[in-house]
Amino acid sequence: MALPEDFLQELKMRSDLTEIASGYMSLKRRGRNMVGLCPFHGEKTPSFNIYTESNSFYCFGCGAGGDVVTFIMKTENLDYIEAVRFLAQRAGLNMPENTYDDSMTQLRKRIYEANRESARFFHKCLYSPQGKKGLDYLYGRGLNDKTIRRFGLGFAPDDRFALSNHLKSLGFKDNEMLSANLVYKNRSGKGTNDRFYNRVMFPIIDVRGNVIAFGGRIMTDQKPKYLNTSDTPVFKKSANLFSLNNAKKVADRTLILCEGYMDVISVNQAGFENAVATLGTALTSEQAVLMKRFADEVIICYDADEAGQKATQRAIGILRNAGLNIRVLTIPDGKDPDEFIKKHGENGASAFYNLVNGSNNDVEYRLNKVKNSFNLKIPDQRVQYLNEAMKVLSNLDSVIEQEIYASRLAEETNVQKESIMSSLKRLNSQKNRNFRQKEFRKIQTDLSGRDDKINPQHKDEPRATRAEEELISYLVNYPDTMESIISKIDSKSFITEFNRKLFEYFVQRISSGYEPLNTINNDFSPDETGKIFQIVHKTITLKPTHQALDEYINIIVEEKGRLKKEDIASASMEDLSDYIKKLKEKRK
Ligand code: CTP
Ligand code: MN
Repeated sequence: MALPEDFLQELKMRSDLTEIASGYMSLKRRGRNMVGLCPFHGEKTPSFNIYTESNSFYCFGCGAGGDVVTFIMKTENLDYIEAVRFLAQRAGLNMPENTYDDSMTQLRKRIYEANRESARFFHKCLYSPQGKKGLDYLYGRGLNDKTIRRFGLGFAPDDRFALSNHLKSLGFKDNEMLSANLVYKNRSGKGTNDRFYNRVMFPIIDVRGNVIAFGGRIMTDQKPKYLNTSDTPVFKKSANLFSLNNAKKVADRTLILCEGYMDVISVNQAGFENAVATLGTALTSEQAVLMKRFADEVIICYDADEAGQKATQRAIGILRNAGLNIRVLTIPDGKDPDEFIKKHGENGASAFYNLVNGSNNDVEYRLNKVKNSFNLKIPDQRVQYLNEAMKVLSNLDSVIEQEIYASRLAEETNVQKESIMSSLKRLNSQKNRNFRQKEFRKIQTDLSGRDDKINPQHKDEPRATRAEEELISYLVNYPDTMESIISKIDSKSFITEFNRKLFEYFVQRISSGYEPLNTINNDFSPDETGKIFQIVHKTITLKPTHQALDEYINIIVEEKGRLKKEDIASASMEDLSDYIKKLKEKRK
């Protein structure tokens, strides 16, 4: 079952992608289209395009593409039906009833509800006699009741059935609790055990206020120290951040990025509500672009230990790539922000405030790191320092920035600024060369089809695939041409299966009088949708001429008729001479 066509059409007419996307990113006009930094992958120069005429988008950097529904699915982490409902509400349209299969939507809804009830249950337990040790633990770590309430912290009782019994009493089914990863099948395979027991609990809440997952900390030195919800239909660890629901409310578009739950909470208690943390994994570019939605600047506040410093260097690259400004806060004593604040007792908040104020930008941070590893009194080491420092500066995009730091370096090392700048120029042009080579290789790879995961035949049939894609693109962009196209070529002549399927799909839709792309999100997977919008947007540059169309059709027919290597090996003598005769006739 699918949603009615006319409802979808109306919905899309009332949902202007440019207007909607502007709420998530900044866009600039370029000709008829809008361009911006892609909200789905980290990048410094815009490759994300909105085609205003077709109300759709495509990113040349990461291959994400689709219509306004796809855009909402991806940015709001919703499934198809949820995204349609989201847009319908926005547009003031009623969802048609009972016309679509929403079992996945229903399951996701139940998971959200189960999570919310679990968070309530854990919080209540924390303030009941059985939760006393949890509450004492949190008090012992310096948290007050206000903070505990603000984060909805809780306690999972030392009983492997406490939560599931409670959820069952509320009507939740085993499969719902299993899908939420709140329980797991026990060894006998008959029943289920609670995933979290005897731990203090940290609910993870998304920017819309849904409880999507939990982290649970053991109160002793046992391992694992933290247990987290695995990925579920509503939770993807690598695409969420702890406490972003609180942090996004702070108006100054700065976020403090910490390593752990307790750091975020202590930093909050010290008065900074804009702290977030990754969820037990290294920072991803998905998380960086998520931050970019709410911030222009990120203050990295990782542990002072070696692992934390390594992670800082890595995070700088990822955050810069997402177009964020960066500062790095270094903790002078103590291991992490939480310990630092606690150690300073009553003055914890103001001590931390000073650290934030005194934090350097990422370039200064990197230069300092390099500087500290050399003894500048020794000439040899001074040279090494200069070389390393220049590597840092060569990563900067702006020449002005380079100039500023080059002046400082010149002063420090007693080297002429001009010679530093000219060495930098050499590094710059090397970098540009590398960049161009990389771009060139990317185009080559694209053309070869080597990386085409959606159409695996692309790499063996690059010429045919390209012609097929051009033809499909014309068909979708100019549905009027359908009659003329199908009079000249049959889907059977298509060589790659994926494109044949697409061709048949669009012919079918157009001949039934439907808008070709109207139900694409329902009929294809998100990755396939991306590919389809790539085909539709990448190829089309000019209005179709009959000549061009005929040429693509000829290529497909010609490639289809060409004997493949395997065929030649197994062909009989007669077959081969027949084939050669045909080829000769064609040449005439
Ligand atoms: N983490 C995890 N699983 C572990 C250890 C750590 O998921 N077994 C994640 C948690 O999100 C944790 C973060 O990594 O908050 C940082 O780990 P660590 O620095 O070891 O913990 P702290 O945040 O300092 O935790 P605490 O102060 O409670 O010891
Ligand atoms: Mn800690």
